Amino acid sequence: MGKSVAVYYSSSAESGNTARLLASFMRGIERGGDTTETFAIKDLNISPCTGEFHCWFKVPGQCYIQDDMQDLYSSLREAETLILATPVYIPLPGEMQNLLNRLCPLMEPILETRDGRTRAKMHEDVAISRIALVSTSGWWEIGNFDTVVRIACELAEDASVPFVGSVLRPHASVMWQQEEKAREILDAAEAAGYQLATTGTMSSDTLAVISQPLTSEEEYRRGLNENYLRVKGKGH
Ligand SMILES: Cc1cc2nc3c(=O)[nH]c(=O)nc-3n(C[C@H](O)[C@H](O)[C@H](O)COP(=O)(O)O)c2cc1C
Repeated sequence: MGKSVAVYYSSSAESGNTARLLASFMRGIERGGDTTETFAIKDLNISPCTGEFHCWFKVPGQCYIQDDMQDLYSSLREAETLILATPVYIPLPGEMQNLLNRLCPLMEPILETRDGRTRAKMHEDVAISRIALVSTSGWWEIGNFDTVVRIACELAEDASVPFVGSVLRPHASVMWQQEEKAREILDAAEAAGYQLATTGTMSSDTLAVISQPLTSEEEYRRGLNENYLRVKGKGH
């Protein structure tokens, strides 16, 4: 039993694709015995990092910017599991990138080189011992997540904590047009959360159910193009 904290960006806190997938995932984590906290970045006032390294070389571990990150830092320090949840926005929404940059105060800059890469670690008062990703996207193909998964992995590697996997839902909007499939996918997301809380990992079979194709690539692309051409034909 531990604490899991999710920070997410979604176009809508209730009906956004990422928000809805994450809600099921977090329900599973709670069922697995973790306490949870979920922060909607969209509702928070989070300024961009100013890049002065105040948190590293002036007052280690402290960000001097007085905004909603200060509350978030307290929660993040207590969390064993950090869940990042975001849509793919070539590659990230700006708000999510701001958040990632503002995680710098949690990292202690005692640097090591591992496999030719410079790595730090979390400060001793930061409990985070694993990072997971929940993401949704518009395009059909799963490969479209590669950059976002890479970013989440890179954060975990920089912080020297394990990256424990990705819950990915491509062509996410299609899900809501197929009630039974939506139920199956949300149930699998809940199962993945439960697995993470109880075993520290997520089964590849469960993750595959969440990412399953819901239409053919050709049909999906044709639908999107036809929709656009209809709008264009009306002169907006
Ligand atoms: C500005 C913008 C950029 C986007 N870029 C991509 C992209 O590069 N690849 C993709 O698959 N979907 C892209 N999308 C679609 C979203 O990832 C997709 O609709 C997602 O499920 C939205 O999640 P939300 O409802 O939680 O906001 C983009 C959407 C927006 C608004």
